[in-house]
Amino acid sequence: MAQIINADTGETINVDDNSMIKEACAKIGVPFNCENGICGTCIVKVVEGKENMGELNDSETDMGLDGEYRLACQCKIKKGKVKLKY
Ligand code: FES
Repeated sequence: MAQIINADTGETINVDDNSMIKEACAKIGVPFNCENGICGTCIVKVVEGKENMGELNDSETDMGLDGEYRLACQCKIKKGKVKLKY
């Protein structure tokens, strides 16, 4: 089991290892629009646990993101805890 944590409120959502984080992020309040890696509305800052995140995908690298910032509609968590701000 892995965990998505809202860095501001401490709210924690349990997710499966190697799963998309979109639903958990919606639960902690991250806003979404296109849900398709285009608009950038769902950009989150990974404040802890960057190493627990999956690889950047093409939408994220096209947007110039480097792993400190991720698109919540596109990325996966591998395992462990990840703390996010949005
Ligand atoms: S919601 Fe548009 S990029 Fe994620």
